[in-house]
Amino acid sequence: MTETDAVPIVSDTDQEFFHREGYLVLPGLIDADYNARLMTELDELIIHREADDRHMLVTYPEMGHLTCHAPIIERLQLLLGPRFAMHHIHSARQDAGNRGVRWHQDYEQFPQTNRSHIMVHVFYYLNGLNGTIGDLLVLPQSQNIVISNGGLGLFGTEDLPGSLCVDDLPPGSAIIVHSALWHARRPKPGGENHPRYFIDISYCQHGVLWPAYPKIEQINDKALELGLGQDGNYEFLYDSTQFFNRGDYDAAFQERNEGSIALQMKGVGV
Ligand SMILES: [Fe+2]
Repeated sequence: MTETDAVPIVSDTDQEFFHREGYLVLPGLIDADYNARLMTELDELIIHREADDRHMLVTYPEMGHLTCHAPIIERLQLLLGPRFAMHHIHSARQDAGNRGVRWHQDYEQFPQTNRSHIMVHVFYYLNGLNGTIGDLLVLPQSQNIVISNGGLGLFGTEDLPGSLCVDDLPPGSAIIVHSALWHARRPKPGGENHPRYFIDISYCQHGVLWPAYPKIEQINDKALELGLGQDGNYEFLYDSTQFFNRGDYDAAFQERNEGSIALQMKGVGV
């Protein structure tokens, strides 16, 4: 899409498509120079991991910057509204023979009961998709069906009625996926000399608190310390107050989790 004054960076049609279908493909969103630097840095990350020399991903300059990269943040602001917080960044280099990932959904909620607010995963395919190693499968419109994260695993990586296979994308492409959209990675042969460079970064819309992991505050503090908040413009991306530690609630929930949860909500049925 051409960026001009007359055309918003996400057209009304594309916004409607995202909210209805649950995903939006952005071919070649990352420019070639930045894309090359990201791939080089991901290679360095793999070397560090193999040496068990681990660092927070936000401390890698190129990947850290990707978490606040204006071309994606501005698009997300049109889809999610002005404020949302980063949940995580994951990076991986998938080699030939990768086993794939079964059907699942990644929406963070405990327990899974509704889809009142939007969480997204942005999938970056730095060297595109070409039908080798793994194809992305999505089931359009499934984001509104409430199901546990792993409740779809029995479907493996088979096609589902209405599912789509994404296997052809140019380098530097991104796909914004509603985190509750059912998706999978189907293993494919080939790619022996062409590993898949993959980064996913997820963001949670403001308005409710989201379950997270204990280290999120440490990661956000580091991101802000490194200036990823862009002089205040994007500090909301690293706002730890938007999250709670799920582990703190597990035991109490399991103890009370019987029958219909609605009966345990204040003001209901009294
Ligand atoms: Fe996923």
